[in-house]
Amino acid sequence: MAMHVSSACYSVLSKRILVFDNQKHKVRAALQTKEEGKVNLGGSDLKVTKLGIGAWSWGDTSYWNNSGWDDRKLKAANAAFNASIDSGITLFDTAEVYGAGIFGAVNSETLLGRFIKERKVKDPEVDVAIATKFAALPWRFGRQSVLQALKDSLYRLGVSSVEIYQLHWPGVWGNEGYIDGLGDAFEQGLVKAVGVSNYSEKRLRNAYEKLKKRGIPLASNQVNYSLIYRAPEQNGVKAACDELGITLIAYSPIAQGALTGKYTPENPPSGPRGRVYTRELLTKLQPLLNKIKELGQNYSKTTTQVALNWLIAQENVLPIPGAKNGEQAKEFAGALGWRLTNEEVNELRSLAEVGPMIGFPVERL
Ligand SMILES: NC(=O)c1ccc[n+]([C@@H]2O[C@H](COP(=O)([O-])OP(=O)(O)OC[C@H]3O[C@@H](n4cnc5c(N)ncnc54)[C@H](OP(=O)(O)O)[C@@H]3O)[C@@H](O)[C@H]2O)c1
Repeated sequence: MAMHVSSACYSVLSKRILVFDNQKHKVRAALQTKEEGKVNLGGSDLKVTKLGIGAWSWGDTSYWNNSGWDDRKLKAANAAFNASIDSGITLFDTAEVYGAGIFGAVNSETLLGRFIKERKVKDPEVDVAIATKFAALPWRFGRQSVLQALKDSLYRLGVSSVEIYQLHWPGVWGNEGYIDGLGDAFEQGLVKAVGVSNYSEKRLRNAYEKLKKRGIPLASNQVNYSLIYRAPEQNGVKAACDELGITLIAYSPIAQGALTGKYTPENPPSGPRGRVYTRELLTKLQPLLNKIKELGQNYSKTTTQVALNWLIAQENVLPIPGAKNGEQAKEFAGALGWRLTNEEVNELRSLAEVGPMIGFPVERL
């Protein structure tokens, strides 16, 4: 009997061990799958998805959203956040000045923090990487200003640390202090990786060396880069990023909608975007857009997905397209998991010569 009981116990126990092992295996497999689609951000230990989502338009009324923010737009932004997570994209780029009091209706960081909190109620294990930025406003001085601004960002986001903290643009003066502050934030464990944005090659190299002396890798430089805005290839920024192992985070990667094919000379974007993506420019873009569309049909991909895939094919480039709604966010995920051929990449490059483009003036500081 004892023998019978113990063998029964053994059989139950071994089944439990098997179930437990299976569960452990499943958890391990799930973690591996999560990690598989990720890359290290520059020389940092931080792993992020190969594409992120830009949250500039969330709450903004100065550039986006036709000067108005309402409940419908809020729901759409929330849907963009959830659709990204559902599609496996977990990196979100925001900034203290996006949609902030002076610039818009609701702060983008506050919205992102709220979306994360709500999602965590349903999905406690949800894994989100937040990238936010310090605004180098002329009245801010020294390393302490970076730490103070970061703490305010953490408060709005409702978190105790963020994955990536970036200097949004170089300081006209006091830039050295900002880099020291970035290093302090890293050493204090408030951020997992540090980056800069709109930094020229010279400024990038200086920041890299300064942080290196403290053993801190400068992980990224976020700059304007798309098929039709290729300044980083011409001004040495892309080459310096590749040489130093710094990820180039590409902002405005679909040229603020102009590379999606939805805007035409007959239907240009409204608001401030219309001054950059004019009827004249949209006319010049048509041969490129036709080719992108044609290539997309061969891969069953949309124009937007091809434009993003072109950037990813440049290697060491992580695009962060802005999504206003769930459909846009879902579409971005389709830019991953396939690749244009080198011939196609070059063909698109040659068709994309549309002349000088208006960029963000801070790039030249
Ligand atoms: N560091 C910096 O100085 C800096 C500067 C700019 C941007 N950024 C960051 O980069 C992110 C992306 O840049 P961005 O927002 O300037 O430009 P973008 O990503 O090139 O374009 C985003 C816009 O394109 C349209 N769009 C998006 N997906 C679409 C789709 N599937 N089909 C059709 N239209 C689509 C949407 O506007 P409509 O629907 O209204 O057309 C969307 O707001 C920003 O959110 C921000 O996080 C950083």
